[in-house]
Order: sequence, then C-alpha cells, then structure tokens
Amino acid sequence: MKHADLLIHSAAALVTMAGHSAGPARGAAMSEVGLIENGAVAVREGNIVAVGLTEDVLGSEWLGPDTVQINAQGKVVTPGFVDPHTHVIYAGSREHELSLKLKGVPYLDILKQGGGILSTVRSTRQATDEELKAQTSRRLRTMLSLGTTTAEVKSGYGLTLEEELRALRLIKELDQAQPIDLVPTFMGAHAVPPGYSEEEFTDIVVNDMLPQVASEALAEFCDVFCEPGVFSVQSSERILKKAKELNLKLKIHADELDSAGGAELGAKLGVTSADHLLQASDEGIAALAKQGVIAVLLPATSFNLAKNSYARARAMLQANVPLALATDSNPGSSPTESMPLVLTLACLYLRLTPEEALTAATINAAHAVGRSDRAGSLEVGKQGDILVLDVPNLNYLPYHFGHNPVNMVIKRGKIVWEA
Ligand code: NIG
Ligand code: FE
Repeated sequence: MKHADLLIHSAAALVTMAGHSAGPARGAAMSEVGLIENGAVAVREGNIVAVGLTEDVLGSEWLGPDTVQINAQGKVVTPGFVDPHTHVIYAGSREHELSLKLKGVPYLDILKQGGGILSTVRSTRQATDEELKAQTSRRLRTMLSLGTTTAEVKSGYGLTLEEELRALRLIKELDQAQPIDLVPTFMGAHAVPPGYSEEEFTDIVVNDMLPQVASEALAEFCDVFCEPGVFSVQSSERILKKAKELNLKLKIHADELDSAGGAELGAKLGVTSADHLLQASDEGIAALAKQGVIAVLLPATSFNLAKNSYARARAMLQANVPLALATDSNPGSSPTESMPLVLTLACLYLRLTPEEALTAATINAAHAVGRSDRAGSLEVGKQGDILVLDVPNLNYLPYHFGHNPVNMVIKRGKIVWEA
C-alpha cells in the first residue's frame, strides 16, 4: 500500500482555496477560501493526495506507519504564499535614500540624479556571481521563513545585454539551489542607463536583449517600467509587442507614480498582469476587467513611498478585476520580503477582507505567474506547498503584524523551515 509521506491534521482552520484553479477569482468569489474546520491534508511524493476533515484523512488508506504526522491543533493551515512580483536579484542596499525621502525628494528625482535604480545597477554590476548569489540567497531564505514558496524574480539591475543575461542565468541557478520555485522575468526596460536616450535603449532591449533572452529560454515573462520619465507608453508598447512575438508572456509596471495609460496599454496587449496601478484611471480599470488582466497590487511599496496613496482595490474588485498581492521586494521602493506584512497592509489600506487578501496572495498570485496548475491551493494533485501558521483563526493573520506568524513551511511535502 502506498502511504502519504506527510500528513497535517487537526488544523483549527485549513484554507484550501479550492475551485479557483481554472481562472483567477474575481469579485465575490475572492471571498470563497474553501475553509475546512478541523482540517487535514496529506502529501505523497511531493503532491497532495488528500484534503478534508481530520477524521476522514486520518481514517483513510493514506496514513501508514512511515507517515510523518503534524498536529496543527489551534493553528491555521494555508497554501504557501506566492509572491508574484519581486526584484530580489541585486547587490547592495540603499538606506542612504531614506533621508532624501524624508526631506521630500521624489523617487523619480533620485533616479534622474543617477541614484535609485541606477545606484543598484552599479553595485550589482560590481558584484561577482558568487556575491550576487549569496546576497540573493539570503533574501530568498527570509522570504521562505515568511511563508513564500513560489516567487517571480525580475532582472533589471544589469541594463546591458551581458548583465541582464547574467541575472537571468543566476535566477535559474538559484531556482535549483533552494526550496522556493522561481519564475524568471526579463525586465531590461527597468531604467534608461546613462549615455543613452530612451529611444536608443529601447532599440537595444528590442533588437539585442529580447531575441537573446528568448533564444536561450531564460525568461517566462517580459516586464517594463511604463512610467512618464522612464519608459513611455510608446516605448513600452514596442518592447512588449516584441516580447509577445518571441512567445514571452507579459507584465507591466503601470500607473505607479502617474496616470499615463499604462493599464490601458496592458489591457490592449493582453498582459497576464498589470502591477502597481496606484494612479490607474477608471477607463484603465474597466479595460483590465474586460481583458481579465490580473491587477498585482503592491501595498508595501505604497507604504514605503510614504505618500498616503494606495491602489483603488475596492473599485477594481467591484469592476471585476482579479486581484493579486506581492511584495515588490527591491532595495528602493520596497525593501521587505514579507508577504504577511503585505496582507496586513492590504487589509488596512486596500480595504480587502482577510479572505480576499489571502486569495490574492495564493491562488490569484499563482495565476499571475502561470503556476496555477501546481501552486496556490490545497487540492489533490497540486504540489504540497503548505504553511502551518501560528494563528488561531484567519482574521488573526493580518491583525497581528510586525512579527512572523509562520510556524512551519512545507515545500513539495518536505519541511523546509520551522520556527
Ligand atoms: O517596482 N518601479 C520600478 N521598479 C521597482 C523599484 C526598483 C528600485 O527602486 O530599485 C518598483 O517599485
Ligand atoms: Fe516592481
């Protein structure tokens, strides 16, 4: 008889997120988290084989003498978090920008003066492969400890053909070297490096970088920082159209600081997700809904930009836009690895309910990175990516903030982190 390798039982609440794998949850469906009281889940050879009431799963043929049993009494069990928007491959840090921000210097002014993203580009280019991997591994370890089991990672701190390819190759190596599944995104269009006009650099991204990235199959997605003063809607369109021709899936940093039609462009090109969207227009929101584009919202970035400006999540929900949540982890606008913090901010400032926020951080986030076939929910056949949370109920998760609620992280049925 084949037994489960691991069986978690007696969870006060087991949140399955079942029923949303065919397409992202929208509107009222974002509140349907598939909660089982006194729930259990069993994993064999990395995949989930049973989910249900504790008495049923413990009484099934899956329990054997060699099954590792975890008693989750008084705790909540959820799918591993999926973080669908990060920039974690970089070297160095930018704590010196805090005092500039406190003096009121705008984010894009720091960039225009050669700081911001360009300062991280310099430190990243200077780092050896080993240094870059070591610094990124440390961040990934922190993410894992905070419950992230799948994450998207963007290039974009190289900004030359060789440096962008290097970052993407290292993301592949890191994917193999640690437990979090990494989804690679090419974001050569993250900033215009010194010495180039926007048009010249867009030419390089389109003619040199994208064909090479595609021919080496180094990325699944292409992203662009579509923002007045960085890449215009016209340049962004050229880049994303070329990426589409090369069979990459698309993402867009849209309407983060200014409303300039980024959401509309994303909808027109059929991007998988449009991200940030703080300043998205009503027309932009309607266009995203019509095309079924996922809005990836990044409240930790809004919090850290400290302008009291957040995306209009409730308007998006009402308009039927599927929502996902991410950290945007990066050294400038969001120096955090914490999905639990993002959940708290999503409830307080995006006005999501705990159920909506958790849907956005799991199954909808999995859709945003093309991983809904294996991640984002606790259903038979999916990977055994599971969190045991040291919280008594779902509301407690966003309520108590500034600490780590994660008791145990399980990746493909193996315990990979424990408090
Ligand atoms: O998503 N907006 C562009 N990129 C990042 C910030 C990167 C950085 O500041 O280093 C973002 O906010
Ligand atoms: Fe970003």
